[in-house]
Amino acid sequence: MTDARSIPADPTSVERLAGQRLTYRIIDMSSPAEAEAFFRADARGFLDSEPTAEAVASTTAALKDRRNIGVFEGGAEESTLPVATVNSWITPLTVPGGEVDMWAISSVTVSGTHRRRGIARALLEGELRAAASAGTPIAGLTASEATIYGRYGFAPAVPVARITVDTRRAGWAATALPGRVEYIDKETLRDHLSAMHEVARTQRSGQIAGWKLRWERVAGLTPEHPDAAAVRGIRYLDESGAVRGVMAYKLAEIPGAFRFEMVIFHLAAVTSDALTALWGFALQHDLVDRVSVDLRPIDDPLPWLVADRRGVEVVVHDHGWLRILDVPAALSARTYRAPIDLVFRVADSLGFAAGSWRLTADGGRATVTPVEDAAADVILDVATLSALYAGGVSAVQLRAAGRLNVTAEVAASVDDAFRAAEVPLLGIWY
Ligand SMILES: CC(C)(COP(=O)(O)OP(=O)(O)OC[C@H]1O[C@@H](n2cnc3c(N)ncnc32)[C@H](O)[C@@H]1OP(=O)(O)O)[C@@H](O)C(=O)NCCC(=O)NCCS
Repeated sequence: MTDARSIPADPTSVERLAGQRLTYRIIDMSSPAEAEAFFRADARGFLDSEPTAEAVASTTAALKDRRNIGVFEGGAEESTLPVATVNSWITPLTVPGGEVDMWAISSVTVSGTHRRRGIARALLEGELRAAASAGTPIAGLTASEATIYGRYGFAPAVPVARITVDTRRAGWAATALPGRVEYIDKETLRDHLSAMHEVARTQRSGQIAGWKLRWERVAGLTPEHPDAAAVRGIRYLDESGAVRGVMAYKLAEIPGAFRFEMVIFHLAAVTSDALTALWGFALQHDLVDRVSVDLRPIDDPLPWLVADRRGVEVVVHDHGWLRILDVPAALSARTYRAPIDLVFRVADSLGFAAGSWRLTADGGRATVTPVEDAAADVILDVATLSALYAGGVSAVQLRAAGRLNVTAEVAASVDDAFRAAEVPLLGIWY
């Protein structure tokens, strides 16, 4: 896998921003002042408080693994905060039947003093050109607002569920399981979160690898975590004593009720028994009236585990955004659940994915061959193809929205081939 840090600053974005007397360049992470300035600009851009010295130390250490870009006013000194930030790294993205290298993009901020003059466009297009030059077939991100990234060819491809449970109404109906649930300390919690995610991420299309600082934060081991002291952890061990699931949560008093809400920060279970046991612990906890969690798969079995499913509210929202850069490499990296033989004509205003390809699979892996002047069966833009890619968005639904030019029958056959066995999931923010 290529190291994103080896890819130089995109010359087109350098030139475009130089026209505004701005310097677009890679941050020198060996300079503590420059690394700190990058992180403080990132925190300000995301409307966070000014970071503490401990937060600067832990975050800048972790940021060394990424390709960090800053945009500076011409002639700025080393410790001056950049007016825009972005970073990236290459990570495995799970797809049906395997993995593909993905250019992950994060820390997209433009300072309040420099907004709406094309800086974010230069950042995003610069990332896509850098990713393509590294030979990465696809880019991905999670978004603060759903209105920002469609214009660059990204689409919401991995929807997830936010689940809120009224425990008094929902009750519990599942039978007891043979394993056991145990409390764990925060260091063990961090290690299990990392290990369970590493297994869980291979089980569903749409997942990416985690990283150390992410799990330290979830486990409440970083000083800047506002809930650090409140984080608790449990694990589920199966009959043989093997760890199969882990959960990080806090209990927050519901004002005036003398009762509590359990806020689950992360729940990772690699077997059905582990998932049932962790849900059972949460829903049957004394003094808890409400349980809430985000980033669950939209087919989470919880409504089937309780006595009254109307006590379980499931809100589906966009989470994992994908953007195909290399159509043959991306489409041939995954498997297909049903035979397919169709010519896709892809429009891409930025050029990366534009063209026509015949996708042929007999179930399993596909061959993807460029075709010239062929009549296309499916005409779509790169964002629509990216929405379909992980197997979690329906072609029938996209057709109904006017995003595909095919009959309902052809759209259904695309779904038969593209659908993932278990619905896709992205269990973390990045
Ligand atoms: C989102 C953000 C990065 C945009 O930066 P910017 O430099 O002002 O954006 P640009 O001037 O390059 O705008 C590019 C296009 O995006 C549009 N746009 C910018 N911000 C937008 C927003 N928040 N919602 C919808 N559209 C937006 C612009 O109108 C422009 O549209 P056009 O290409 O059709 O003309 C900036 O507002 C920001 O830092 N927000 C807070 C942090 C954040 O949410 N970052 C995203 C993290 S996922």
